[in-house]
Amino acid sequence: MSNQTIESLEIRVKELEAQVDDYQKQLIHAQKMSSVGALASSITHEFNNILTTVINYAKLGLRHKEEERREKAFTKILSAGQRAAKITTGMLSYARGSESRQEPVDLVLLVKSVVALVEKDLQMNRVNLHTHFDSSPEVVMNPNQIQQVLVNLIVNARQAMPTGGRLDLAVRVNQESNLAEVIVRDSGAGIPSEQLKHIFDQFYTTKEADENGQGGTGLGLSLAKEVIEAHKGRIRVESAIGKGTAFTLKFPITNTAIEAA
Ligand SMILES: Nc1ncnc2c1ncn2[C@@H]1O[C@H](COP(=O)(O)OP(=O)(O)OP(=O)(O)O)[C@@H](O)[C@H]1O
Ligand SMILES: [Mg+2]
Repeated sequence: MSNQTIESLEIRVKELEAQVDDYQKQLIHAQKMSSVGALASSITHEFNNILTTVINYAKLGLRHKEEERREKAFTKILSAGQRAAKITTGMLSYARGSESRQEPVDLVLLVKSVVALVEKDLQMNRVNLHTHFDSSPEVVMNPNQIQQVLVNLIVNARQAMPTGGRLDLAVRVNQESNLAEVIVRDSGAGIPSEQLKHIFDQFYTTKEADENGQGGTGLGLSLAKEVIEAHKGRIRVESAIGKGTAFTLKFPITNTAIEAA
């Protein structure tokens, strides 16, 4: 092959690599939008409640002339508005975030930001949430990607508990391995061992399409694995049929956290 041919092939390979990179980003974004879709009904519901509060207190304020009553009505309207703003801000920053920058993040704060996104959805599906924050390790990460992984794990957990159940979220430092861990444990159906070996495969899903043709894409866990491994972390699963499933994310801790611990 002539030098020129090799050179043009090398350019082509670079172009294709850039294209693959671009598709990967689009895939991550599409998967994120699908998890936003899974949370949409609870958000609509929550907004409806907020609107009811706003409308009722506005009527009350208009009906009553006394200063005290009106002030109470305004206070209620204000706090309902602030609650709505908190929900939209959290959701928008989750949906829009696409930065590739890594930064040190307090794992507990990150898990709390995810709880804010999913708590209504869990409540609506009769899932009781319990959090356990034994320590607050700092991990270098891309916060938006880790949020996406946690939302995926929590949506999976909720889908495994169709009649409700219990979800435990824990953050801790494993003293032996010195790794920071986030544990997502559900009391759902569990995963049969013949399925367990496939759950991290791309497009592997056991979820059938619903009446809207909306089934699983089977991308949630494969992306989770990819993201966690890009963070030099590990993802582990333990499952017992009829008892439930636990996913553990393990991350290297930054030096400051090791010193503090
Ligand atoms: N917590 C869980 N309990 C029981 N089964 C689970 C749990 N998490 C994952 N699974 C199984 O692993 C499969 C793959 O999960 P994954 O998140 O990759 O895709 P999905 O949930 O089917 O689709 P999508 O994430 O696009 O909605 C699921 O279809 C399900 O069979
Ligand atoms: Mg999923």
